[in-house]
Amino acid sequence: MNISGKTVLITGASSGVGAAISKAMANAGGRVLLLARRENELQRVADEIKQAGGEARVYPVDLANASAVMEMARRITAEVGTPDIIVNNAGSGKWRFTEETSPEEAVQMMTVPYFSAFFVTRAFMPDMLKRNSGHIVNISSVGSRFVWPGATAYLAARWAVRGFSEALQADLYHTGIGVTLYESGVIKSPYWEHNPGSLERVPKMGLLVPALTPEQVGQAVVKGVECNKRLVVVPFLMRLTYWQHAVVPWLVQWMMTVTGYRQPR
Ligand SMILES: NC(=O)c1ccc[n+]([C@@H]2O[C@H](COP(=O)([O-])OP(=O)(O)OC[C@H]3O[C@@H](n4cnc5c(N)ncnc54)[C@H](OP(=O)(O)O)[C@@H]3O)[C@@H](O)[C@H]2O)c1
Repeated sequence: MNISGKTVLITGASSGVGAAISKAMANAGGRVLLLARRENELQRVADEIKQAGGEARVYPVDLANASAVMEMARRITAEVGTPDIIVNNAGSGKWRFTEETSPEEAVQMMTVPYFSAFFVTRAFMPDMLKRNSGHIVNISSVGSRFVWPGATAYLAARWAVRGFSEALQADLYHTGIGVTLYESGVIKSPYWEHNPGSLERVPKMGLLVPALTPEQVGQAVVKGVECNKRLVVVPFLMRLTYWQHAVVPWLVQWMMTVTGYRQPR
């Protein structure tokens, strides 16, 4: 889909990857709608986009709250119409073993990114279907392909996002709505400060692939939408790991496990 002149909604736009995707979409000519909880941070990103000549509006909302999402969707539809492109990017969660994760944290981690992506997509889907055009991007992680120790609830939530994205691809196969699933390893974003004690648990095998900048992710997502890609995996070295995984899944999974974090006993 050509992004120029399109309305692009990005969740988790107040920080890191979401802020960079918003700027990249605005650079490509999209009118961006920025969603997250922190209004001042959303405004800061919107100001940067406007200073660079782009168009941006901010919509503060807690995406964990289904009725708040519906209300926000009605407001967006009334003010700017149905978005052409939705980027479900908001996500959080500390990397912890099962026994280190409280039930509340486990629910919270499944709520954002998975339920929030479901709520936002569901809110706009009837109008997108009526128009029979649009594009949905779901941001996940390589953790939805192979797993490592010490991040159980985080990984399960990323598998949920991948499952949602692939199910949507099947649902929308006979429509004009495209779906892109984005997966990568470490990105140098504030995620690691927001979720302390997680970066230390990246498996040693994962460290062989260079970390990405949020700007590289923004570019990859823009290209993914423009080329209507079903799956975006960056960088090249990570794609190589995916090919290895397709041929010998047990070997890649074993290496991720044995080079992963070990619980001090
Ligand atoms: N960083 C990495 O290495 C990496 C790698 C692969 C995939 N990813 C994925 O990329 C996505 C973005 O992560 P990031 O690295 O940019 O992390 P980040 O800097 O911590 O940003 C997380 C974003 O999610 C928003 N968010 C969290 N809970 C929310 C809620 N309840 N309602 C609304 N917004 C909420 C935050 O905004 P507010 O706090 O303002 O609400 C923030 O904008 C995540 O889904 C993550 O899993 C990250």
